[in-house]
Amino acid sequence: MPNKILLVVGARPNFMKIAPIVRALSIHAPSLAPLLVHTGQHYDEAMNDRFFQQLRIPRPDINLEVGSGAHAVQTAEVMKRFDEVLDREEGRDARAVVVVGDINSTIACALVASKRGLPVVHVEAGLRSNDRNMPEEINRILTDQLSDILFTTERSARDNLVREGIADERIHFVGNVMIDTLLEFRKLATPAAEVLAPLGIAGSAYGLVTLHRPSNVDDPAVLRRLLDSLSEIAASLPLVFPVHPRTRSRIEALGAGALGADVKLVSPLGYLEMLGLMAEARLVLTDSGGIQEETTALGVPCLTLRENTERPITVEQGTNTIVGTDGDAIRRAASDTLANGGRRGRIPELWDGQSAVRIATVLQQRFG
Ligand code: UD1
Repeated sequence: MPNKILLVVGARPNFMKIAPIVRALSIHAPSLAPLLVHTGQHYDEAMNDRFFQQLRIPRPDINLEVGSGAHAVQTAEVMKRFDEVLDREEGRDARAVVVVGDINSTIACALVASKRGLPVVHVEAGLRSNDRNMPEEINRILTDQLSDILFTTERSARDNLVREGIADERIHFVGNVMIDTLLEFRKLATPAAEVLAPLGIAGSAYGLVTLHRPSNVDDPAVLRRLLDSLSEIAASLPLVFPVHPRTRSRIEALGAGALGADVKLVSPLGYLEMLGLMAEARLVLTDSGGIQEETTALGVPCLTLRENTERPITVEQGTNTIVGTDGDAIRRAASDTLANGGRRGRIPELWDGQSAVRIATVLQQRFG
């Protein structure tokens, strides 16, 4: 009987990372049987089901249905319910737990597995913003400390891990699984015009915005400052803004008139719609980690509305500029980008569509 390997997902950015791993395991790890566990951290159709359909991810074998909650509550709930899963599965030849990214579900499942002596595999290890005010930074540091095998997306990640005392032989530089997905689905992306037409944006020039980091959206003064600068940019370049549920409630709390008419708010988009919009945008303004990488892979200029990034390769080699959250700095960066076309960039090493195959090969050797 094949050895079972548990794959954990919880929230939207996990889905594009797990999709190519599931496929690569089925081809390159014949003696492993993946069991897909969804914690239920994200649950809306728009944040969840649509991604499973578009990315052709099999339906999860187990859904823990934890839903939303304060950090401690959400993390604890995942831990309790995942522990029960391991009660059942360990007796059925479970060999390892694979976690991806840096969300609460990632640290919760890593902690449960490691306390039970089950090897933890972390995909997207070693990224550091060096900003412990970000909940994800805590999740990254602790998940890496608990992991037996650490797969990295860029070379700087190994330096971070070694500095934190992690043995070099546990670290494997494999490239970026999210870019595997981007390259696989690029041709299937929805043309931008199809998303833009119903919004009344006729021309081909537009910018794309996403904001959901608590540091940007939870403080009304910061959010208002960001929205003001977006409204000003939109006077010369219409902006499409698919709004994360956390952000929508914060914008609504600011009241009518918080945004200029040329900033078009839309519901969260599917993967293929977002990919199409990103690929053809003049510029992208974001606080997302994944979008900094996707724009680098697409060669589209990205202005990151944060003070730091845990993905420095996107700045050193890609199209990303760290702009911060000062209104003047954002307006200036946007107008420079529109005037000179923005940073050109190049594709980082091993962002070649084969990262999941490298991961599956290591897992087959170790656990097969
Ligand atoms: C989480 C991750 C973040 C990731 C983001 C992507 C953590 C600490 N944060 O943040 O790293 O970048 O996902 O989206 O794990 N909600 C819905 N529907 C859903 C899910 C959430 O309406 O399907 C609303 C709820 O009001 C919830 C809020 O969004 O309270 C926040 O959701 P949560 O999963 O706690 O954090 P995110 O901000 O999504």
